[in-house]
Amino acid sequence: MIAGASDALVLFGATGDLAYRKIFPALQALVGRGALDVPVVGMARSGWQLEQFRERVRGSLKEHGSGIDAAGERLLALLRYVDGDYRDAATHRSLRAALGAAQHPLHYLAVPPSLFPTVVDGIGESGSAAGARVVVEKPFGRDLASAQALNQALHRTFAESAVFRIDHYLGKEAVQNLLFFRFANAFLEPVWNRDHVASIQITMAEAIGVQGRGRFYEEVGALRDVVQNHMLQVLAHLVMEPPVGAGAEALRDEKVKVFRGIRPLAADALVRGQYDGYRAEAGVAADSQVETFVALRLHLDSWRWAGVPIFIRAGKRLATTATEVMVRLKAPPQQVFGAPATPNYLRFRLGPDRVAIALGANTKRAGPAMDGESVELYVCNDGGAEMSAYERLIGDALKGDPTLFAREDGVEAAWRIVDPVLHAPLTVHAYGQGSWGPAEADAMVAPYGGWQLFAGA
Ligand code: NDP
Ligand code: BG6
Repeated sequence: MIAGASDALVLFGATGDLAYRKIFPALQALVGRGALDVPVVGMARSGWQLEQFRERVRGSLKEHGSGIDAAGERLLALLRYVDGDYRDAATHRSLRAALGAAQHPLHYLAVPPSLFPTVVDGIGESGSAAGARVVVEKPFGRDLASAQALNQALHRTFAESAVFRIDHYLGKEAVQNLLFFRFANAFLEPVWNRDHVASIQITMAEAIGVQGRGRFYEEVGALRDVVQNHMLQVLAHLVMEPPVGAGAEALRDEKVKVFRGIRPLAADALVRGQYDGYRAEAGVAADSQVETFVALRLHLDSWRWAGVPIFIRAGKRLATTATEVMVRLKAPPQQVFGAPATPNYLRFRLGPDRVAIALGANTKRAGPAMDGESVELYVCNDGGAEMSAYERLIGDALKGDPTLFAREDGVEAAWRIVDPVLHAPLTVHAYGQGSWGPAEADAMVAPYGGWQLFAGA
């Protein structure tokens, strides 16, 4: 375990898309609230000097950050730049020299995953790993075997306690709030189990397509891109047991138990879809079988959840952009006033634009008859003062707090769930842009009340 805060931040992949859109604006915000005042060393092979790197960061802050304000100026002053190919030992020696007296650098690998082993070995061989931490981006592997190989490659140089695997969904307020809401309130726990919960659904709908990242997406598909990581993390927050005490490991232990309790996905519990027009996107094969939509049913073999159907759907070019959890409760044991129009439910809106919790209930309709109507008790936070997920996660990594990062055993257990269907030649069903995916996905959930409907979509 490395004690203390990082005294330098090294950004591998400093000229890349992720750095430009997400990382520099997050660093600006961290500087703005006094959480970052150490050198930030950009690394890339562009042949640049420091001034060109600064220009790139300026562009990012103008386009995606809060502009060149006081925090922006302070960030620009913290920048250093090292140029060179990561496959070249001289690049890593230059980095070592640029780090000067820093004892605890944080190395952020915003590079293609195929480069992780090369970069990590270079960091180790040049002597920049001692006392350091490393942040790696998703996708963390492309199946169980490659994730295990990546973990081994990381551990040649870094202990697990020094590895911070980013899943940006864990940095979202709304995803953390799922945990908080469950364990900070007494009223939920008595009903949060197989006796009272009829089904669980998670929807991650995106109206956007692959946005110019067709070549990347062809290697990935929806199951690897957002289900193995983001959606399973959301599910873990929903269904895990209370952590035994505070602290990062207690929480991460419970999540691993969830992943281990989920049965490996069967081919007949999965519907794959591809939006019309996907094959015409740049970088996509004309006969691509890659899925841009998935719907799946999971089984969690635990005392609490045995037999409760759990559904996840995620897709691009759908009717709206929304990530939501819907937990439907069973009907009351006796129908004193007839069957309720809508059984009780809890709905958690996780994004993108607002964070909300809603409780679906039935009340009496005004009038002489004991007729009911469905209402929603609704609280909403417009998210105004929130930190971005990247700001939160980079800040935590700089402090060395691993709570919101994926742990080795958790990542591998999550891959084990999806692994059986990753290499199988499964059908991909076409669906129209702006729809809710292929009809086969609806059939899967029809016996359990169908998919949740989204207003206005
Ligand atoms: P890009 O391809 O845009 O950037 C890759 C960066 O790595 C560039 O700075 C590139 O420099 C540098 N690089 C590549 N090879 C070498 C090398 N041999 N030596 C030195 N530098 C090298 O990737 P992204 O920014 O999109 O993605 C980075 C990581 O983040 C990936 O793991 C990706 O999966 C992940 N990610 C990205 C997201 C996104 O929205 N972009 C979202 C979530 C995760 P150069 O340009 O000079 O080649
Ligand atoms: C990324 C995926 O991890 O998450 C993208 O690679 C996806 O395909 C994105 O669009 C969604 O993130 P958010 O925060 O916009 O819901």
